[in-house]
Order: sequence, then structure tokens, then C-alpha cells
Amino acid sequence: MANHLLSLWDFDKDTLASYIMRAIDLKKESKEGIHHHQLAGKVMGMIFEKPSTRTRVSFESAMYGLGGQVIYMSGRDTQLARNEPLKDMARVMARYVDIVVVRTFGQEVVEELARYSSVPVINALTDLFHPCQILSDIMTVVEQKGSIEKLKIAWVGDGNNMANTWIQAASRFGFELTLACPEGYDPDPAILERAKKEAGKPIILVRDPATAVMDADVVNCDVWASMGKEDEQEKRLQVFQPYQVNRELLRDAKPGAVVLHCLPAHRGEEITDDVLEGSQCPAFDQAENKMHIHKAILEKHLIG
Ligand code: CP
Ligand code: NVA
Repeated sequence: MANHLLSLWDFDKDTLASYIMRAIDLKKESKEGIHHHQLAGKVMGMIFEKPSTRTRVSFESAMYGLGGQVIYMSGRDTQLARNEPLKDMARVMARYVDIVVVRTFGQEVVEELARYSSVPVINALTDLFHPCQILSDIMTVVEQKGSIEKLKIAWVGDGNNMANTWIQAASRFGFELTLACPEGYDPDPAILERAKKEAGKPIILVRDPATAVMDADVVNCDVWASMGKEDEQEKRLQVFQPYQVNRELLRDAKPGAVVLHCLPAHRGEEITDDVLEGSQCPAFDQAENKMHIHKAILEKHLIG
């Protein structure tokens, strides 16, 4: 079976940590001007059924940076838009490309593609998970704080794909995680339950953002209405108002706490402009690190 990356559940801590350590090396080498060609002759196919700036460009740049080639398709440009079965798409793509990077709605879509694909399928965001993003976010924490295992991480806002993936990461890496989500916007209950069972440290869901942020080393936030939830934007603006990451909320975090945002950001909604632009928020390092993590992922899944 091909070596897919669909969810962090599929990997143990050592494997997840190895992507991060390799990405840190690749970042250093890139700053030193060292060029790589290990993926020369390889082709990455991308199927994106949702918009993307960072994930698309950083995956493309990563592939070119390792000597490979890229074919990008938006979902609507493929026969998937006319209901070609996923199992056919998967088998066709595998005849043309060496790896497939997919951004879509249902997690079951990437799983179905992977089931029928003889080449690796990489999850570049579904409604349920955003695994590659959390790896670059943890890389950013490691850069800022040296390691993540002993830290207290907070999540403030929607229990969305990012929150679900942070929960998985907490159970795999063994750090403490407290999530504050409004009622009705909880993370996936099955993911939370499994993570709690497998975790070595507490993973706690609360309603009060101040409780989550208390003594946190890292405070995470994300948009209040994820892609596909645009029609709920107005309602969410009301519900999530107390969940804004601003100076006042951060007062109870540990001194030197880091604020993470995977971007795109909506200033004045989930985060204030001064926090996003302030020295404690390395959001643009997070964005850069996506490229280095994607290089590490492509290398590992294409050549081992
Ligand atoms: N963080 C992230 O996934 O951004 P894009 O939606 O721009 O890819
Ligand atoms: N939760 C957001 C993440 C965007 C990178 C979304 O799914 O739209």
C-alpha cells in the first residue's frame, strides 16, 4: 500500500517528530543557499476543491525546490465536477503522477482516493483535519520554545479541522491541551474521546476562553467560519465574539506566550490587529514553515 498522509492518527510520535526535524534542517540548508534535486523526475498532482494561498504555493514551491514538477487542478476543472467516481480518478492519477495532494470537503474523499491510489495521497485540508498545517505549527513552536512536550497549549474558538488536528497532535506528542469552544461548536467528539484515551497529558474542553488561556505557553486561533461555512458567517460573528484573541485575553497566559494563527486571518474577529502584528505572534514564520514541512513530507513519502 502506498504511504499516504491522511490524518495524524496514522503516525507515531517519532515519525511525526521526524518530519519536523527534517524540515528544520531543510530550512537551514535553504537559508544557506544549498540546492536540492532529490525529487528530479517526480511529478506532484494537486487537486484542490477549496481555495488556498499558502498550502498551494508552499507545496508547489517545495516540489520545485526539491527538483520535481507540479500539475495543479482545481476540483471544478476535473471530471470530479461531473461526478466521475473517486475510485476512477485515483487510479487514473496514479498512472500520471508520483504523489497526489488533495484539499477537499469530506475526509472520506481523501480516504476513498487513498484506497484506490497506488501512489501516496496527502491531505492538504479537509473539513475534519489539516495535518500538514499542524506539523508546521509545531515546527514553529519548536523554533520558538525549543520543544513542545512540556508546554501548555490553548485553542480558542471553533472546534474545527485545526482544533481536531491539534487534539490528535496532543495525544501523539504528549503535551497538555485546553480548548475553549462555544456550545454547539465543539471539536469532533469521537476524536476528542480517542485522543483523551491515548494521551499521556490532559486534553480538556471548556467554554471559557480565559480558562483555556490561563498559564498557556501557546495560544492558538483560527477563523470563526471555515471554508464551506460562509453562510453561517453572520451567526458565528455573534457567537464567537467572546472568543477573540486580544491583549486582555492574553493577560493570563504565561509571560512570553506565543500566539499562533495558521492564516488567513480576519483582523478584528478571531484576533486583533495588534496581536497578529505583535512580536508574540510568529504567524508569518508559520506560513514559511509550511514550505519546509511540505519538502520534508514530499521527500519522506516519495523516497522514504
Ligand atoms: N493555512 C492555510 O492552509 O492557508 P491556505 O488556505 O491559504 O492554504
Ligand atoms: N479552519 C480553516 C483553516 C484554513 C486554513 C478552514 O478550514 O477554512
